[in-house]
Amino acid sequence: MLDGTTKSSLARRRLSGRLRMTALVGVLFGAALAYVCHFPLPDFFAEAEPTYLERLFFKLTKTSPARGPDVIFVPTPQAAVNRMLELAELKPGDVLYDLGCGDGRFVVTAAKKYGVRAAGVDIDPMRIAQSQRNVKTNGVAHLVTILKADIFQLDFSDATVVTLYLLPELNVRLMPRLAQLKPGTRILSFDFDMRGAKPRAVEEIRPAETQRTHRIYQWTVPWEPE
Ligand SMILES: C[S@@+](CC[C@H](N)C(=O)[O-])C[C@H]1O[C@@H](n2cnc3c(N)ncnc32)[C@H](O)[C@@H]1O
Repeated sequence: MLDGTTKSSLARRRLSGRLRMTALVGVLFGAALAYVCHFPLPDFFAEAEPTYLERLFFKLTKTSPARGPDVIFVPTPQAAVNRMLELAELKPGDVLYDLGCGDGRFVVTAAKKYGVRAAGVDIDPMRIAQSQRNVKTNGVAHLVTILKADIFQLDFSDATVVTLYLLPELNVRLMPRLAQLKPGTRILSFDFDMRGAKPRAVEEIRPAETQRTHRIYQWTVPWEPE
């Protein structure tokens, strides 16, 4: 039989044990939350395509864009990326912007093959994470910057080459700012034209990945009106 004093001392100990456990769980939960919200994805997530876990991660951490992308991610086939960069005639001193950079294939290829500086811009945090990994894996972090931004809000006036794979109406929305770029700036768009701006050239390409014919539109600033 326990007397009153022993009982209350046992109850106090139980309570303080519970409090300590609650505090520990709270600290662990807080640390996990801080990690999830503030730290980049660990490398074991590194995949060319976002994994199920990665999608779940972005859903749970609500790091999905406040304003959604204007067009979904569809990568330009690598053969077309290579050809577009050839057509851009990249040279030392060029600064390439890929507006809506997806997995960063344009900026990584430009830096790796031509040694030029490049900026990849995307509004989707998942694409930013993919691009950053791509940059890191390819060892071009000294040349490439990945920016999480809305291309319609971004200052890209230092560009000398711009690559696009958006939609015709998005190209048209970008037109006023593209037109203000330095004379001689090359603009290349995969698949889509830019109504009102006469392309300097249009080339067809049939990459093995898609097995269909695509167009590469090219302009140089200032372009002729259509
Ligand atoms: C068709 S993909 C092209 C990806 C890459 N440029 C390529 O050619 O492989 C378009 C990309 O634009 C991004 N995007 C769409 N709207 C955007 C916006 N307003 N600002 C920044 N990025 C945007 C999407 O998240 C997507 O990654």
